[in-house]
Amino acid sequence: MIIVLIGYMASGKSTLGKMLAEKLNYNFIDLDDYIEASENKTVSDIFKTKGEIYFRKQETHYLKALLESKNNIVLSLGGGTPCFGNNMDMILDAEDVKSIYLKASIKALAKRLKTEKSKRPLIAHIETDDLLMEFIGKHLFERSPFYAKAHTVLTTDNKKETDIVEELISGLF
Ligand code: S3P
Repeated sequence: MIIVLIGYMASGKSTLGKMLAEKLNYNFIDLDDYIEASENKTVSDIFKTKGEIYFRKQETHYLKALLESKNNIVLSLGGGTPCFGNNMDMILDAEDVKSIYLKASIKALAKRLKTEKSKRPLIAHIETDDLLMEFIGKHLFERSPFYAKAHTVLTTDNKKETDIVEELISGLF
């Protein structure tokens, strides 16, 4: 089975994905890391040198290839992955693939993203905390309809990571 973790930037997809994979004895793949290794460039460099459209094209290409894998995988997507092309439908239509939206509040996301902006090209330029909150609010509003299509929605605010992983597992089997 492939377990796909979906959510906004800094929603915990990679951290929780790694923990979940370890518990289930699945392989863990972070789509951004996979793209970086395959393209031999960081996501920031791809945005800078080739542009977002190229990044989105490659993102769809690698997602499609991974969804066809027959291995047991926990796959953490990028925050934008479900929102471009037919990616979300591809995830929903794929065989033996379960998707989970890790839903966090604007406030929780802003708090985490404040210190993690630099490696994220879409928000790296935002200068103040207020502007960051405003950006996340609008962006999340646009993206939520895609995220909400996931098989399962799990809220994460004020929960311990280990408890979230337990909740994830009990919802899966
Ligand atoms: C993006 C999120 C990033 C990365 C790229 C674009 C987005 O992944 O794919 O910078 O559009 O939200 P994370 O969600 O892991 O930060």
